[in-house]
Amino acid sequence: MVRALVTGVTGFAGSHLAEFLLGNNVEVFGTGRWRSKTENIDHLRDDITLVEADLKDLSSMINVVKKVEPDIIFHLAAQSFVPTSWHAPHQTLTVNVLGTLNLFEAVRKTDLDAKIQIAGSSEEYGLVRPEETPITEDNPLRPLSPYGVSKVATDMLGYQYFQSYGMKIVRTRAFNHTGPRRGDVFVSSNFAKQIAEIEAGAKPEMKVGNLSAYRDFTDVRDVVKAYYLSLQKCEFGDVYNICSGETRTIQSVLDLLLSMSKKKISVKKDPERMRPSDVEILHGDCSKFRNKTGWTPEIPFEKTMADLLEYWRQRV
Ligand code: GDD
Repeated sequence: MVRALVTGVTGFAGSHLAEFLLGNNVEVFGTGRWRSKTENIDHLRDDITLVEADLKDLSSMINVVKKVEPDIIFHLAAQSFVPTSWHAPHQTLTVNVLGTLNLFEAVRKTDLDAKIQIAGSSEEYGLVRPEETPITEDNPLRPLSPYGVSKVATDMLGYQYFQSYGMKIVRTRAFNHTGPRRGDVFVSSNFAKQIAEIEAGAKPEMKVGNLSAYRDFTDVRDVVKAYYLSLQKCEFGDVYNICSGETRTIQSVLDLLLSMSKKKISVKKDPERMRPSDVEILHGDCSKFRNKTGWTPEIPFEKTMADLLEYWRQRV
């Protein structure tokens, strides 16, 4: 049986990936820190093996790799919230860049012949000119946040470890993905949670940030399939966008979610939610990945939003 190691298995994408792998006859091992919340994977606890590890510690990562001896590795663990990266840039760069370095070094030092997918981000593109959309992998990288910089560095480390040591690394750049279990700080999940709270009478009005930005959203359940396929079909050392190819404003995401509620909800701009520099437009071209793998996202955005709202209605 194929053995997979998922870093960040307790996270949003990690938990969905674990489900997908289990459904595809893959044995799943996941890393988590001792204090990580496990609510996203509590329903999988009997089916996966959780290994305590800290990406910031090389010896910890060497131990994990030796213990698990994975055939495939999905590296999803990261500080993934863009605004936090302004408040804690050092921590963001340490976890995201040096954490990836430790994973690569652990694999290299133990001579493990595993295939490794690393989760880069569309935030690497950062400032994109309208004429540059839809964005291909060749677009210049102009990151606009410490988070974006951390993902550029991670991506480049993947490239360099492939070139220097021939490690079997596939670099993916996923655009925004969402769905049930999405952390409540991220836009669609935050809006859905606020609506559920207002419906339950726990909150008077909604607070929102920049509604004019454009994002290219895919359902997380489609994205984790893409991660799996990337290690089956893509070229080592190469980089692939993963996205829907459609873009929409955050205003339209808000309007769609509001239309799913029977309650009349008032919306207020919250200056605290504005960023020092926001990425204004993300609209991806993933033809390179599609041509390699045949992947195509299947879940319509309306269903993703309905599932997300339902998730929060069950929880608040
Ligand atoms: N979080 C949040 N909260 N964002 C808001 C809000 C709000 O109340 N109101 C408007 N926005 C806008 C943000 O300014 C941004 O333009 C957009 O909604 C999306 O914000 P996030 O959901 O926080 O995601 P992100 O685009 O910054 O980053 C996400 O996608 C990347 C891939 O493109 C994260 O998941 C990253 O980890 C990921 O790499």
